[in-house]
Amino acid sequence: MAPTGTSSTGDLTSEILQALSKSDQILSTEAFAQVPFDSVKAALDRLSARSMVTYEQIERDEALLEPEAENIVSHGSHEARVFEAVRKAMGGLSIQELETEIGDKTVTKLGQGKAFKEKWIKKDGSKIVALVDSIHDVTRDQLRMIQENKTRDGKILADLRKRKLLKFQKVISFKISKGPKYALEIVKEETDLTAEMLASGSWKSATFKPYNFNALGADQHAGSLHPLGKVRQEFRQIFFEMGFTEMPSTQYVESGFWNFDALYVPQQHPARDLQDTFYISDPKTAGRPCPVSPDDKQDYNEYFENVRQVHENGKYGSIGYRYPWSEDESLRLVLRTHTTAVSAAMLYKLAALEGPGGRCPPARYFSIDRVFRNESVDATHLCEFHQVEGVIADYGLTLGGLMEFMETFFAKMSITDLKFKPAYNPYTEPSMEIFSYHKGLNKLIEIGNSGMFRPEMLETMGLPKDLRVYGFGLSLERPTMIKYGISNIRELLGHQVDINFIKKNPAVRLDKN
Ligand code: PHE
Repeated sequence: MAPTGTSSTGDLTSEILQALSKSDQILSTEAFAQVPFDSVKAALDRLSARSMVTYEQIERDEALLEPEAENIVSHGSHEARVFEAVRKAMGGLSIQELETEIGDKTVTKLGQGKAFKEKWIKKDGSKIVALVDSIHDVTRDQLRMIQENKTRDGKILADLRKRKLLKFQKVISFKISKGPKYALEIVKEETDLTAEMLASGSWKSATFKPYNFNALGADQHAGSLHPLGKVRQEFRQIFFEMGFTEMPSTQYVESGFWNFDALYVPQQHPARDLQDTFYISDPKTAGRPCPVSPDDKQDYNEYFENVRQVHENGKYGSIGYRYPWSEDESLRLVLRTHTTAVSAAMLYKLAALEGPGGRCPPARYFSIDRVFRNESVDATHLCEFHQVEGVIADYGLTLGGLMEFMETFFAKMSITDLKFKPAYNPYTEPSMEIFSYHKGLNKLIEIGNSGMFRPEMLETMGLPKDLRVYGFGLSLERPTMIKYGISNIRELLGHQVDINFIKKNPAVRLDKN
């Protein structure tokens, strides 16, 4: 069969099938020597997907003739050319005549030497004459056989290679055989079983295309979830599992009152400096806290006054901070620095609820939302990030219970072996920073902050004296960076985020433990 260099894959598949009808096994480099490798491969893949052929890729070194060797194949070896020239000239040739006859100085020189050695010619006076009638040009025959693929004799090949007449080149070819479904033509494969096929009965003789379970499917260019959103969802799930209710946390702007004063943060506290907190310039201030719905019966004015008093002179058994508390300072609008501002408002509302025995009921609240701090931006800090925050209000809670709770909570995120370090927050006492050993970084890293809210905060809200409230907070970014192996927070949040990074993130992480 004539190999075609211009064959399309379609023609090529039938050519391959044809070739196999004549021979059980074919070698692509022989049968389709002229066809580009990729086309042969594509045609074979089409056929083998239908089990019509099987093929195996083989690699071998092929001997290729150097230009000089090709010259020998067409004109004979140097020695044979010298012999022929001498033989044809009656009475021999002088060296000069021989050179003119051959027309190449090198060929003459090399050929002469070899022909003398072979005893084909000899010197007779000033002439060179032939000693034999005919010779066998071995080199030419060997090269011709190699060119026609008729020999693979290792000794001959090595010898010719040493004489720089050959070079070797890797050739990839396919050894092709009939497959279990071999036929001369590609049968049309059905991809769907239709009602018509069932009605006519044609399904009985139809060939169905097998499912390709290796196909990846086309890129859908659909939306993708941000890693922060995914980890946020994991935390939400844990909170719901543990009986928490989500707090409404979508309000980014708060008054200093809810962000600081209600939490018993003194007005001189460094966290309230311009260097740490973003203040709103327009409008600059909020009104006093007040009910937002008609069924909110709480006396916000009384609460406001109690906050003033507990800061200024102390109350509920506390001696307070003893400084002149400024209403203006407390009404300044800020971008909330923590979601604990939301927790404060929720705890105040809790005080008005009536549970069993006429007392306010236990509660578990959480939020996961954005907060703002005036920080200089670096690899681990941004001016805005997300805080995961939880509060638990109940009677008879102890610090040990908080530690136990934190262990359980973080274990659900596969974060274990927590360490607790005494810390300070104006609104909690005692306070603890939470650390976990990070295997990758080989050190303890801070993963959260926690504590039991102070009576100065809770009793001012009107919560019962024996109600205890745990609170804790952590950033959403830190665990996300750890889980997704991100070392620079700017790759996760902000204008430098690469959309491809978001898109290529796996939908599911199977990294538990
Ligand atoms: N507000 C704290 C922070 O910003 C977290 C916290 C919340 C600590 C509640 C104690 C209680 O880190």
